[in-house]
Amino acid sequence: MCGIIGYTGVKPVCPILLGGLRALEYRGYDSAGIALSGCTLATVKRAGRISVLEEALAAGAAGEKVESACCGIGHTRWATHGAPTDENAHPHATPRLALVHNGIIENDRALRRELEAAGYTFVSETDTESAAKLLDSIYGACGDPVAAMLGLDGRLSGAYALAVIFADRPHEIYAIRRDSPLIAAQSPDGVLLASDIPAILPYTRSYYRPDEGEVVRLRADGITFFDANGEKTHPLCTVNWDVEEAERGGYSHFMRKELGEAPEGVRRTLSPLIRDGLPHFGMPLLDDLHEKKGMRIVACGTAMHAGLIGRTYLERLARLPVAVEIASEFRYRDPIISADEPVLLLSQSGETADTLAALRLAKANGVPTAAIVNVIGSSVAREADAVMATHAGPEIAVASTKAYTTQAAMLALLAVSTAYARGLIDEQEARARTDALCRRLPEALEETIAREAELEAFAARLAEAEHVFYIGRGVDYDACVEGSLKLKEISYIHSEAYAAGELKHGTISLIEPGVPVLAVSTDPAVAAKVASNMREVRARGGEIIAFCTPATEADIAPNADFCMVLDENDTTLAPLCAVSALHLLAYHVARLRGCDIDKPRNLAKSVTVE
Ligand code: G6P
Repeated sequence: MCGIIGYTGVKPVCPILLGGLRALEYRGYDSAGIALSGCTLATVKRAGRISVLEEALAAGAAGEKVESACCGIGHTRWATHGAPTDENAHPHATPRLALVHNGIIENDRALRRELEAAGYTFVSETDTESAAKLLDSIYGACGDPVAAMLGLDGRLSGAYALAVIFADRPHEIYAIRRDSPLIAAQSPDGVLLASDIPAILPYTRSYYRPDEGEVVRLRADGITFFDANGEKTHPLCTVNWDVEEAERGGYSHFMRKELGEAPEGVRRTLSPLIRDGLPHFGMPLLDDLHEKKGMRIVACGTAMHAGLIGRTYLERLARLPVAVEIASEFRYRDPIISADEPVLLLSQSGETADTLAALRLAKANGVPTAAIVNVIGSSVAREADAVMATHAGPEIAVASTKAYTTQAAMLALLAVSTAYARGLIDEQEARARTDALCRRLPEALEETIAREAELEAFAARLAEAEHVFYIGRGVDYDACVEGSLKLKEISYIHSEAYAAGELKHGTISLIEPGVPVLAVSTDPAVAAKVASNMREVRARGGEIIAFCTPATEADIAPNADFCMVLDENDTTLAPLCAVSALHLLAYHVARLRGCDIDKPRNLAKSVTVE
């Protein structure tokens, strides 16, 4: 999604803004712009990549301010209202101010009408322009930036993080947020504002997170927060990962680096949750899950897929009924929810708008909520009743990999603890399963990832495909759903995941000679059934690439054109190895097709609009 950066201090601001925008590139964007302070503001914005903006600046688009300005704001825009054009790019400026915006202004149309009646003319199709012009009118009337920002907040509906510079306040930046992330940080040379942590990391590891509806004022010597009652204070948060973790290292893509970090992420995530060899979440809502009637898992995208595999683990081992819901559906379908079925939110970023809204809906209905997030201090983490952190480290690539694996591993551990508390497994089994997840799973993932050359060979067979199908049963179907999403996200090949037994009820009509079908089979209980579905595909000329285990090999391998035998028989661990293999496979297909793997078209890392 969009990215915001701001700086005011003693250094030239331009390189800082451009560096910040580059650090936020991974969120996904299609235009970029900056505004530089001074008694007249200089605004430069361009459709396309940041390099296009840089060229414009180098060609003199901001005049001498490029070198002299020490205060400014910058933005990367991911188009929602209006195409990615120069006019629609941010900042949106008036002679009095320049403003950048992440999120959505829902009452934009009504505001436009009102402002047009008051004499303003609009040059873009964006919702943001109405916020800029409304603020212009309020500030013009009151002349007080804090009051004007609070006044603006009272008039806007939607989700927003806004950063503003005023022409008559050349060394100050003002900001406000609602349902959209924003942080402020102090460095030795000045203060920074950003929508996400990577943008501030070159300067400091400490930052503040303003509350909803609070005005943030940045001056070179300090950050001040205001609400309607006056000044507020906030505790300083500290980034718990290193700059190097947010860099590519020797890898050509963040996605490749990050999927290789999944094993270590699992170790770091699970080890704090073990006490004397048994799971201990240290959180009543999760440690007492065995007493509940059931649970709902609500999430979006890949996080929702981690919920699917988590459901299989929890139902199979702990006999706990679990419903997995897409957050954007859950929030509008008037769900029947009750206090004896807690809602568990899964989110890498903790900022996904629909997931946050689902959390609020559950809370408003008196339902206990827990969240598993990768970003500590995020909105979902701050609002849920109970929070567990995955320690996957920063995930930069839009396509989520290690976050999925750490979420799924945590849900597998939750299944063990709940099954043990329900008396469905004895202490010995609970210990063995806990050990398998903490110690063996990371090893098994490492072994899978080490077989990259085999996966590259499979990728070569898929790179020219128009359609790819994934089939599996039970937990392997859960793995297929995730593998298929990853392929379409980054390689732009159309793919679908089908429950293997469902294929013959319609989709098999699409199987023609040469159509690739990926079969996943790690569960021996249904391997023979998957094998017969594979035969149905082969009888129609489909080409099968299979992923199986030593325990399912006898059924699967003879029916496949190509087969990878994962070296893991455990039916909880093996499907996660299969997902790692599918992640790596999708990566190599996208690489062979020359796709922009870390920033796939039209996608954003963190979707903060509904
Ligand atoms: C976006 C990303 C996906 C991600 C989903 C949920 O769509 O492109 O990769 O799975 O959001 O994000 P979250 O941060 O809530 O896990």
